Amino acid sequence: MTTQEKPQIGIFGAGWVGLVTGACFAELGHQVVVRDVVPERIEALRSGRVPFHEPGVDELLERNRERLTFTLDVADVAAAPIMFVCVGTPRTYSGDADLTAVWAVVDELPQPDEHAILVMKSTVPVGTGEKVRTALDARGLTHVGYAANPEFLAEGSAVSDFMKPDRVVVGAYTEADAEAVAVLYEPLDAPIVRADVASAEMIKLAANAFLMTRISFINEIANVCEVTGADVEQVAEGVGLDHRLGPHFLRAGIGWGGSCFPKDGVALKQLASNSGYHFQLLNAVIEVNELQKRRVVGKLEKHLGKLGGKTVALLGLAFKPNTDDLREAPSLVLASRLLAEGADVRAWDPVADARHLLQGVTFCDSVLDAVSGADAAVIVTEWDELKSFPFDDAKGAMRTAVLVDGRNLLDPEQAREAGFVYEGIGRAASPLASLPETEEPELQTEA
Ligand SMILES: NC(=O)c1ccc[n+]([C@@H]2O[C@H](COP(=O)([O-])OP(=O)(O)OC[C@H]3O[C@@H](n4cnc5c(N)ncnc54)[C@H](O)[C@@H]3O)[C@@H](O)[C@H]2O)c1
Repeated sequence: MTTQEKPQIGIFGAGWVGLVTGACFAELGHQVVVRDVVPERIEALRSGRVPFHEPGVDELLERNRERLTFTLDVADVAAAPIMFVCVGTPRTYSGDADLTAVWAVVDELPQPDEHAILVMKSTVPVGTGEKVRTALDARGLTHVGYAANPEFLAEGSAVSDFMKPDRVVVGAYTEADAEAVAVLYEPLDAPIVRADVASAEMIKLAANAFLMTRISFINEIANVCEVTGADVEQVAEGVGLDHRLGPHFLRAGIGWGGSCFPKDGVALKQLASNSGYHFQLLNAVIEVNELQKRRVVGKLEKHLGKLGGKTVALLGLAFKPNTDDLREAPSLVLASRLLAEGADVRAWDPVADARHLLQGVTFCDSVLDAVSGADAAVIVTEWDELKSFPFDDAKGAMRTAVLVDGRNLLDPEQAREAGFVYEGIGRAASPLASLPETEEPELQTEA
C-alpha cells in the first residue's frame, strides 16, 4: 500500500499514548495530525522536542517529520477519516474515571464532511462507548462511527509495545468500522481480537487488574517468605516456570504506581460497586499495594530505630525505569512517610524531576551524592544505573551502610560482602552463609 492509500489519522492528546500512537502510525506510512490543548506542548513538538522521557519517540518524530503535524485546532483532526481519542482519564475524588477530556472531544467534534470513525484509545469505564454513541447521535453526528481500541503499551517500552503488540483489541458498532480500524494494524502482524464495544472496554480494565493482582500476589508471597525464611526470587522462578502461570509480573517489590494501575484499579472497583457488585479480590489487591509501599519504613526502622533525625537516600523516583513519569510513584508515598517520621530525605533520579512534588527533600545529581552522609539508602526504581551499585564508594560516603533494595535489583551476598546490611523484599539471608561449616546440610540426592 502506498502512503497516499493509507488513511490520514487524527489524534486527540499528545501524551504518552497519543504521541506514541501518532509517531508509530506515521512510521507505518500514514499522515498524522496530533492535537493537544496545551499550547506549550504543541510548540515543543513543532520544534522537535518531546515533552517527556520515552525511549525511541524522539527518533520516530525526527524520522517522520514530514508525515506529522501538531495542532491546537480541533478542525485539523476532524479532517481525518479516523480519529483516535488519547486524552487522559484520571480519577475523580470518588475513584471513578474522570471523562471530562473525553467529553470535551465529543462535544467539540465538528461535523465531518464524510463518514469518519472516532476510536477510543483512552482507558474508559465499560459503558462509555454506549454513552458516546448516544451523544454523537444526539448531536446529529450519525455518520461518525465509534470504535473501542484500548491501548496496552507500557511507559518505558511504549514504542516497541505499540509496534509489537501481543494483540490488538477492536470493538465497534458496525462491521465496516471494526474492519477499518483493524486494517490499520495489519502491518504489525498481531492477533486482532474482535469484541463488542463493552467487552473491548472490559478487556483493558481486566488485563490491568490481572497484572496488579499478580504483583500484589507475589508481594504477599514475599512478605510471607520474610517471616518463614524462604526467598521470593527462588519461589518466583519456580512458580513462573509452570506454563499455566508464566514468569511475568512475578517480581516482588515495593508496589506499583504510575499513570494507569492506581487509577484503573480504583476505576474498575468503583465501576463494579456503582453497579452493585463488591469486587472483593480487587479491593484486597489495591490494599496490599498500599501496605507494600509503606513496609519499607518498617524495614528502615528495624535497622535504624526511630527515623527522626536520620538521613535516608531514595535512589530512583520515577514509578518505573526509562520514564520520567512520577504519577502515583511509590517514591512519593515513601518520601512523604519518611518526612512525616522526621527523617531527612535525599533523592536521586536520572530523569524524573520531583522538585515540584516533594517539598523538603534534597535532590542530588548522582547516586554517590545522594547517599553521602545517609544512614540508609533505598532502591526505589530499578534504573540500569543502579545495577552496578558503587558499593565501596557508597560505603565510604554513608554514615551507616544500610541498604534496602526495594526492587531486589542487587545480589544480597555481594552487598553483604561489601559490608552492607542488606534488606531486599522477601529475600532470606543465605542459610549457608550463617551456618558453621560442620552444619552445612548435605545435598539430598534421592527422594
Ligand atoms: N500512559 C500509559 O502508559 C497508558 C497506557 C495505556 C493506556 N493509557 C490510557 O491512555 C489515556 C492517555 O494516557 P496518557 O498517559 O497518554 O495521558 P497524558 O496525560 O500523558 O496525555 C493526555 C494528553 O491529552 C491532552 N488533552 C486533554 N484534553 C484534550 C482535548 N480535548 N483535545 C486534545 N488533547 C487533549 C492533555 O493536554 C495531555 O497532553 C488514558 O486514558 C490512559 O489511562 C495510558
